[in-house]
Amino acid sequence: MNLLVTGGAGFIGSNFIYYMLNRYKDIKIINLDKLTYAGNLENLKAVENNTNYAFIQADICDKEIIENLFQEYDIDYVVNFAAESHVDRSIVEPEIFVKTNVLGTVTLLNAAKNAWQDGDGFKEGKKFLQVSTDEVYGSLGKEGYFTEKTPLDPHSPYSSSKASADLIVKAYYDTYKMSVNITRCSNNYGPYQFPEKLIPLMINNCLNKKPLPVYGDGMNIRDWLYVEDHCKAIDMVLHNGRIGEVYNIGGHNERTNIHIVKTIISYIHDNVDSSVDENLIKYVEDRKGHDRRYGIDPTKIKEELGWYPETRFEDGIIKTIKWYLENKEWMENVTSGEYQKYYERMYSNR
Ligand code: NAD
Ligand code: TYD
Repeated sequence: MNLLVTGGAGFIGSNFIYYMLNRYKDIKIINLDKLTYAGNLENLKAVENNTNYAFIQADICDKEIIENLFQEYDIDYVVNFAAESHVDRSIVEPEIFVKTNVLGTVTLLNAAKNAWQDGDGFKEGKKFLQVSTDEVYGSLGKEGYFTEKTPLDPHSPYSSSKASADLIVKAYYDTYKMSVNITRCSNNYGPYQFPEKLIPLMINNCLNKKPLPVYGDGMNIRDWLYVEDHCKAIDMVLHNGRIGEVYNIGGHNERTNIHIVKTIISYIHDNVDSSVDENLIKYVEDRKGHDRRYGIDPTKIKEELGWYPETRFEDGIIKTIKWYLENKEWMENVTSGEYQKYYERMYSNR
């Protein structure tokens, strides 16, 4: 099995590469990543010399490199993680989101289509899996869940660019009958997540006794999934997902943001530094267009593929905090330099 993983040096991609290399011995993974601020080869140190793994630094928008790659390797599967992934950045700088998330996806799709076409049809055993997000569905009220039939109603430049990419992927199935799947997962957490996202940002700020910036009233709800459970779901869809189908991924772990922040404070207070307490919480100006609630209905992936989440939120959050405590050097490396400027720009006048 030759697997092209794009964006494999990011948070979920690097966890997925570990998951797949541990699970399959007859696999060759090619990780193509541009190494933006979010891509970090340190995440993959433990596999860099693995003979089943290769890394290529490139942009998914670079047609020539992508086409050559499909010439050079007989790629069976593409799992496209590569994306600009942070909502707050998309509000400040939308263009790069459209470029990478939309144009990059179509560049990959097209190269895969050209390489996989065989007469009027396609070679056997090929698949393109687009890693999407529940944010394409927009925001829920107090009741109900996102199903695969929920209309797309994205609000941020990030989620709009992901929804656009989903529609292009769908078009490759509808038009060419190319073998594709789309997965839409809820918020992930776990090792290697860049500290621009809620959980690692709050852990890092607690450890540095910096204010904990909670947007708005802190009552927005996200549906949290431990990253390994997401990796397991992608593997299942890749191998057994019905062609052309969308699968929602989530484990009914809805929590308010303020609950998450208080959980992190409490663990650090009890186990690391008793001077860290709720006085660090600082309610700040809300995010523009802030989605109120996300909640996934995972019935389809459970019933069709037998997927279920293995990690309860209460366990996963402790495992995650411990990982950051044990990997302080990783955190120091990613928060030096550019990150300081980012933080200043996003939070100093908030
Ligand atoms: P991330 O920001 O941590 O990683 C993105 C990776 O993509 C980085 O390694 C980056 O260098 C690479 N990249 C960016 N632009 C590129 C380009 N033009 N060419 C090649 N590589 C490029 O993101 P993540 O949190 O790991 O998310 C991965 C995917 O999963 C994204 O598509 C995201 O939309 C989706 N997703 C994320 C979550 C979540 O909670 N993090 C939830 C659901 C879906
Ligand atoms: P985030 O991790 O950026 O994920 P997403 O916006 O893709 O769901 O944010 C999760 C939630 O936490 C979201 O409601 C915004 C909120 N949030 C804060 O309150 N403060 C912060 O500093 C960050 C980064 C997020």
